[in-house]
Amino acid sequence: MKYSELGLVNTNQLFADALTNNYAIPAFNIYNMETLTAVIDAARIAHSPVIIAVSESALKYMGSDMLIGMIRGAKISPTEGFALHLDHGKDFNICKHAIEIGFSSVMIDASKLSLTDNINATKHVVDFAHQYDVSVEAELGTLAGIEDENTFGTTSTYTNPDDVETFVNATDIDSLAIAIGTSHGAYKRKRDDEELQFDILSEIARRLPQFPLVLHGASSIPQKLITTINEFGGKISGARGIDDTQLRRATQMNICKINVDSDLRLAFTAAIRKSLSEKPDNFNPREFLSSARAEMTQTCLNEIKNIMGSNDKINTHP
Ligand code: G3H
Ligand code: 13P
Ligand code: ZN
Repeated sequence: MKYSELGLVNTNQLFADALTNNYAIPAFNIYNMETLTAVIDAARIAHSPVIIAVSESALKYMGSDMLIGMIRGAKISPTEGFALHLDHGKDFNICKHAIEIGFSSVMIDASKLSLTDNINATKHVVDFAHQYDVSVEAELGTLAGIEDENTFGTTSTYTNPDDVETFVNATDIDSLAIAIGTSHGAYKRKRDDEELQFDILSEIARRLPQFPLVLHGASSIPQKLITTINEFGGKISGARGIDDTQLRRATQMNICKINVDSDLRLAFTAAIRKSLSEKPDNFNPREFLSSARAEMTQTCLNEIKNIMGSNDKINTHP
């Protein structure tokens, strides 16, 4: 299925506007009906373009037909600026599958390979994807943290600015994910004063002028959500995210896609814990799932307005 039949757009026009006007498109991860509608509701309320991100494990969890059925059910119009993006595709086959079922954007994550092998794997995907006008993101450098259900990275390697022009020219990718100190999951920093590597970001932006850059592992880990989770029976300690101010600064420096998954997981979990704890006699899942969906929408709205700056940006697209 061609993605345009689902009302989706690829990321090219979204990134062009984000770069010109110094904001970031949020990429929010989804994995079921509640999370998909929470993200879509927030985008519609805030008039924000949004990248609906689906990891390989989330795609396996939902099933391809179910996901595409839900996307169709959302009755998306191309003027709303929704892209459907494969997050951390590990090889050509999963990217090809995503493109064939209706994704408008894919990430090929060969960042753990050598530069040459990363280029080859990425170019293979680009050559296929561009035939269908699907945009491609790739990654240089590696983030610490959990990148997939089976992959635990413990160390990070910052992106080497010396590699970026070679990589982009050799692959013809549409956006580049870089490693400047963010990491996946809820435990990103040991201390509050740890800074992202803005000097690396600025050097990459200098070498790739007007080229869309992507920040993975960029959840801010709102402490209010951690407090609620712990207040209602959870046990999460030492979780720390990326400071809002630093994320906003990155949006002024060619970062035009910011990936958020952990914050939304926290919102969903906090609301379910609170709802079940406050109404111990409830066994109607629709009740606690409604609370979870509403809390997730609110978290998306907060981040669209306070971090991404993408609110009220859909009218700028034809
Ligand atoms: O970057 C990874 C995302 O947070 C997806 O995680 O594979 O558990 O869905 P997942
Ligand atoms: P967080 O774990 O910081 O939400 O990162 C999500 C992400 O990068 C998805 O690709
Ligand atoms: Zn990621």
